[in-house]
Amino acid sequence: MQTVAVLSLKGGVGKTTVVLGLASAALRRGARTLVVDLDPQCNATATLDPEETGTTLANVLESPRLPVVKSAIAASAWGEGVDVLVGSEDVEELNHPNPGARRLGNLGRALQEVNKYIEDGELPYELVLLDCPPSLGRLTRSALVAAGGALLVTEPTLYAVSGAQRAFDAIAETREQYNPDLTTLGVVVNRVRPRSYEHQFRIQELREHFGSLVLPVALPDRLAVQQAQGACMPIHQWGTPGAREVALAFNLVLARVLRSGRRGRHHEFAWPESDGDEAADA
Ligand SMILES: Nc1ncnc2c1ncn2[C@@H]1O[C@H](COP(=O)(O)OP(=O)(O)O)[C@@H](O)[C@H]1O
Ligand SMILES: [Mg+2]
Repeated sequence: MQTVAVLSLKGGVGKTTVVLGLASAALRRGARTLVVDLDPQCNATATLDPEETGTTLANVLESPRLPVVKSAIAASAWGEGVDVLVGSEDVEELNHPNPGARRLGNLGRALQEVNKYIEDGELPYELVLLDCPPSLGRLTRSALVAAGGALLVTEPTLYAVSGAQRAFDAIAETREQYNPDLTTLGVVVNRVRPRSYEHQFRIQELREHFGSLVLPVALPDRLAVQQAQGACMPIHQWGTPGAREVALAFNLVLARVLRSGRRGRHHEFAWPESDGDEAADA
């Protein structure tokens, strides 16, 4: 199981789009996928349109026990192969800037439960995608503690380098404190217009700073992305030339993500129990 946190510390740059695009590519490829919606805005949940669940991520983050997790997961409307651990507006209240180590470990514990408990005849998840909110509170940090890899999303704009740098710093900090195996999978540049001189300039700037971490394939800016999301459809099924172009780019990003997972960790990680700072949220 490859667990990937998709993050940027900025809103509206395409985190959810990348999560949905990778889920769509995984569906096409037959890789069973779980999308975890950590954003209180719940855009990923809305587009994947699962049936109503008994619990949500808000319950799971407080109590990462198997029955709670299981009842927060539902099949998406995209078909068998993509499930959702559904989001909730209520997670906003849990997005504490300094929640303490035990709480930061809860998402990882919950996913480990899911991974251990596979029903008869069910395939295990090959991919778990964590759709983060744009802030660096408990929600994004929980994702970084639970993940094997972190995928950064940025647009080719003026502050792209400094934004990506802050996200890299957060990844490095999490690696040091909680998750030594966390790898940076790379930076995905989204909404690129190939003929824009400004975009090419910004991509070059990103490459100068982050070298080969900038993925060679960029995601083009195409109306089909918004249309498919609005229709709650996987981009691979949208069928316009623009959709095909974006879908192809997502196939390449997915291949890279899955490849890095095979090289990645397979041992059981001891999620942090307590570091004595639980009083902060008591
Ligand atoms: N490559 C793209 N082409 C066209 N529209 C895009 C693209 N990527 C994102 N968008 C649109 O931009 C908006 C914000 O994207 P979203 O993925 O929700 O960002 P985030 O999750 O980072 O807040 C959405 O309406 C989405 O459809
Ligand atoms: Mg989002």
